[in-house]
Amino acid sequence: MDDQTWARAPIEPQSVNAPLSTSAIFLVVTVTADDEAAVATARDVVSDIGGLVRAVGFRDLGGRLSCNVGIGSDLWARFDQPSKPSQLDRFHTIPGSGGHTAVSTPGDLLFHIRGERLDQCFELERLILARLGDTVEVVDETQGFRYFDSRDLLGFVDGTENPTGQSMAEAALIGDEDPDFAGGSYVVVQKYLHDLTAWGALSTEQQEQIIGRTKADNVELDDSDGSRMSHKSLNTIVDENGVEHDILRDNMPFGRPGAKEFGTYFIGYSRDLWVIDHMLRRMFIGNPVGEYDRILDFSTAVTGTTFFVPSNDVLEGLAT
Ligand code: HEM
Repeated sequence: MDDQTWARAPIEPQSVNAPLSTSAIFLVVTVTADDEAAVATARDVVSDIGGLVRAVGFRDLGGRLSCNVGIGSDLWARFDQPSKPSQLDRFHTIPGSGGHTAVSTPGDLLFHIRGERLDQCFELERLILARLGDTVEVVDETQGFRYFDSRDLLGFVDGTENPTGQSMAEAALIGDEDPDFAGGSYVVVQKYLHDLTAWGALSTEQQEQIIGRTKADNVELDDSDGSRMSHKSLNTIVDENGVEHDILRDNMPFGRPGAKEFGTYFIGYSRDLWVIDHMLRRMFIGNPVGEYDRILDFSTAVTGTTFFVPSNDVLEGLAT
């Protein structure tokens, strides 16, 4: 390849568009040590994440192991870079109506590990934490699993309306609007705990009105008759020019029945942070105000953090 061809090579995102997997681990850590060595360790580990993924993934390529690294705004500031992704910001708490709050919780780094084999995901997490050593504190680690035909623990098929192909790239990846960070993505995570006893006390029809789809066969319901908006409709964002704005989700169920813990780990990738923010405001505050997403009467957000997922080039360039 000549120099000009190299110059035209497309920017390579991380594995944002990896196919939905059977297993996932969501690991959120903070860089607690406040010395420069700790920041340098974090930079070196994330810039070499590809090496760790290959080390574990190559042992069974059929496991399709992947890992996306997200970096929080506070840590980005400590990375001493010439510029900052234009929309990167902390997750701001949303005090909602009906007593529901979208809480903001700490997080400097997110590792979104996906694959067909939980042992490979586990091994990768183990190696990442060993490399990070005691420069970090684990804020949360959640092991998610695929539940039957991609259902959440509320019993509904989750992920149907995700954009695919070119629409996925348009929805999830930064383009020319922020050239230094093209091929990157913003990601928001929230860990939700469900009250399955209360949810199970509803009739199937009531549950379907809340979600906006039928439960057994996953068909969209029309709620344009002025009745209270469903989860599906609150999360359909159309701007003043009639353009719909999507995000890319890869929610995973998690739980420990023995501890009565049942949850959904929400993860949303977006080219524009405002789209997810808008969705959250409609869910928590309501549209109109007060008519919040009734999914929240049965689901409590216990975490909420925003990260920037750089392209592979930017990530590798963080090596010290
Ligand atoms: C749709 C579940 C949280 C955004 C859906 C659907 C289900 C679901 C079952 C319908 C099928 C589909 O298209 O995927 C859940 C659960 C959540 C949760 C159990 C947590 C308790 C969130 C959050 C957001 C969100 C926090 C955004 C900030 C969306 C979007 C759609 C959707 C954009 C597609 C809407 C459409 O275009 O039809 N969700 N969700 N969800 N959800 Fe969620």
